[in-house]
Amino acid sequence: MKKILVTGALGQVGTALTKRLQQEYGFDQVLATGLQENTILDARYEKLNVLNGKEMMRVVRKHRIDSVIHLAALLSATAEGKPLLAWDVNMNGLLNVLTVAKDAKLKVFTPSSIAAFGIGTPPDQTPQDTLQRPTTMYGVTKVSGELLCDYFYRKFGVDTRGVRYPGLISHESLPGGGTTDYAVHIFYDALLNGTYTSPIAKGTKMDMMYMPDALNAIVQLMEADPSRLIHRNAFNVTAMSFAPEDVANAIQKHIPEFEMHYDVNQNLQQIADSWPNSLDDSAARAEWDWKPEYDLPRMTKEMLIALKMKLKQPVR
Ligand code: SER
Repeated sequence: MKKILVTGALGQVGTALTKRLQQEYGFDQVLATGLQENTILDARYEKLNVLNGKEMMRVVRKHRIDSVIHLAALLSATAEGKPLLAWDVNMNGLLNVLTVAKDAKLKVFTPSSIAAFGIGTPPDQTPQDTLQRPTTMYGVTKVSGELLCDYFYRKFGVDTRGVRYPGLISHESLPGGGTTDYAVHIFYDALLNGTYTSPIAKGTKMDMMYMPDALNAIVQLMEADPSRLIHRNAFNVTAMSFAPEDVANAIQKHIPEFEMHYDVNQNLQQIADSWPNSLDDSAARAEWDWKPEYDLPRMTKEMLIALKMKLKQPVR
């Protein structure tokens, strides 16, 4: 990658990724784009709606882009509330990216998700290649996106790559509208209030990952030797699998008085229950040497330190 365009750059992943790519490739080599005016990122920036393919091509040509990291999408809970909008943004946004990539010869990274699994998928150590019958609109767009990326690679030779992300935990920007968002909110509430009410029930295990590992996955996969890639798109990746009480326990090691309560949100719970408990990421490990650095204790420690600074909290 030399000149990289990031869509959805103002979101949870995009804000952290833009900084990471600037460090790795140079400030001027990264073009952040998003739906809104940029008030948060120190970056080269263009306002861009991914549903406008013509404008996307204009921006790509103007900045001599060679790679796109396509992050703009509606997440699972929002998508369940607005399923037709989710289909439009998630699918037509991706179709525009792939079409521009075909014509301008770009490399493309597209994240899929644990949401691409559903009914009949083995829930534990979910294999790379298995049944995918998701029950959410978000999941439907993710499976369709995986297939569309495979198609553009096979039919048109577009260099598409991607991973199935688990819930992503970070301290830069808050996630919006996801089912795994609780695993970020719990850290803020632990520091600000000493208590958290989980919308996800005890015992509900989901895969999770700390943002630095998620960003490494993008850079590593995009720079990987293509001759080693058998799967290309939609690699299972994971770093840890936990239930709400596990992250609460990890926080209590640092804040012993922290209290966890539960008020289960049935909409979110239904989505969470349809997703795997844990993924098998051996294909990613074998094909591009994927290896996460953060487990739950290490991530918890770093999240609390980073958020204390951000929230200017005295150390509890
Ligand atoms: N974090 C996402 C969500 O909860 C999963 O891809 O929607």
